[in-house]
Amino acid sequence: MTTASPFSPADRLKRLPPYIFVELDRAKERLLAQKKDVINVGIGDPDLPPPAIAVEALKRALSLPRVHRYPNDRGCPEFREAAAAWHKRRFGVELDPLREVRALIGTKEGIGHLPLTIVNPGDTVLIPDPGYPPYFSGTIFADGKAQFMPLREKNGFLPDLDAIGAKKGERIRLMFINYPNNPTAAVCDLKFLEKVVAFAHKHGVIVAHDLSYSEIYFDTPSPSILQVPGARDVAVEFHSFSKMFSMPGWRLGWVAGNADVLAALGGLKANLDSGAFTAVQLAGAELLLNGWEAQKEIRQGYQKRLDILVDTANSHGWKIKRPAATLYAWLPVPKGFTSTSFAMELIEKEHVIVLPGNAMGKEGEGYFRISAAIEDSRIKEAAERLCRFVRGNLSE
Ligand SMILES: Cc1ncc(COP(=O)(O)O)c(C=O)c1O
Repeated sequence: MTTASPFSPADRLKRLPPYIFVELDRAKERLLAQKKDVINVGIGDPDLPPPAIAVEALKRALSLPRVHRYPNDRGCPEFREAAAAWHKRRFGVELDPLREVRALIGTKEGIGHLPLTIVNPGDTVLIPDPGYPPYFSGTIFADGKAQFMPLREKNGFLPDLDAIGAKKGERIRLMFINYPNNPTAAVCDLKFLEKVVAFAHKHGVIVAHDLSYSEIYFDTPSPSILQVPGARDVAVEFHSFSKMFSMPGWRLGWVAGNADVLAALGGLKANLDSGAFTAVQLAGAELLLNGWEAQKEIRQGYQKRLDILVDTANSHGWKIKRPAATLYAWLPVPKGFTSTSFAMELIEKEHVIVLPGNAMGKEGEGYFRISAAIEDSRIKEAAERLCRFVRGNLSE
């Protein structure tokens, strides 16, 4: 006799937003089955090859017996010391490699776990909208309450800190910020980070600055929040190898800053995972010490692609500004479309997949995101098809 499964998803999973890509994925699969030439500029999955020195360092590390045992829960000393040296050279910030740096299995892992270490049920977390989805899902998993900070074009896609405050009976515990920003490609300066640190001190809030795109800038290098005096009392900062060295599959990142927050996160992680593969950390250490030239090539590779996108679109009469950083262009949808209707029609008519802006939050409605994680000729082709689609719709 068969019985109905007793499984039912936990309530917290039901509180996650619906997966907006389902329809896009279905349309993509149908078109691929019809052998259509689909171009996917919807996802930010870096495709440039990782630096050769990382691959060589990984091969060397694999012959060390110690890498095959459980990793050190803080990250191996070589990795933490290399990360501290990188902060010193890049930002002029001195960190204690033992207490102020911790290895992560990719930044997403640290971001997703952080609310569990800080947020009690019902506590408020400030989340950028639009923003990287794990800020919200991590908050939900910790039974926290999300308060969204709208990122609007008229404010340079920065949150209006003066408009934020705890409502009666509310306790704001944590604030996520992310510059260079996904999805808007906006950047911030040190002055903005100084205001954030002052805000955090005033309201007793921990700030998590997601600096995953720190090295994908095209003009001015992005600042670190840890450059601000007093920041390490209130802030932690996330770094990722995924975009910086184009190696998302390796799953390596780190968190730096407030030692108490890092210790708490370490305590949580010790119960959930056993850390990033030591051989991968050793290859990461090699990159942080000696990968500066290789990093520059990656930055230039993404810049070239975004230039191709912008130049192609502008040669067809658009007036797009070159993004200041990240792998992305964040563009308004033409009149008469919503983000979703634009993305769906574009895939049907031109077989180009973009990310509808509302996938990243309510404030993303009216925009779409193109990612430069695709080879030069394909991004040009995607831009040509996009222009043809927009032109056709403007003249209707
Ligand atoms: C803003 C932001 N933070 C973090 C991440 C995740 O980085 P990682 O691959 O290190 O987990 C991404 C990946 O797309 C991202 O866009």
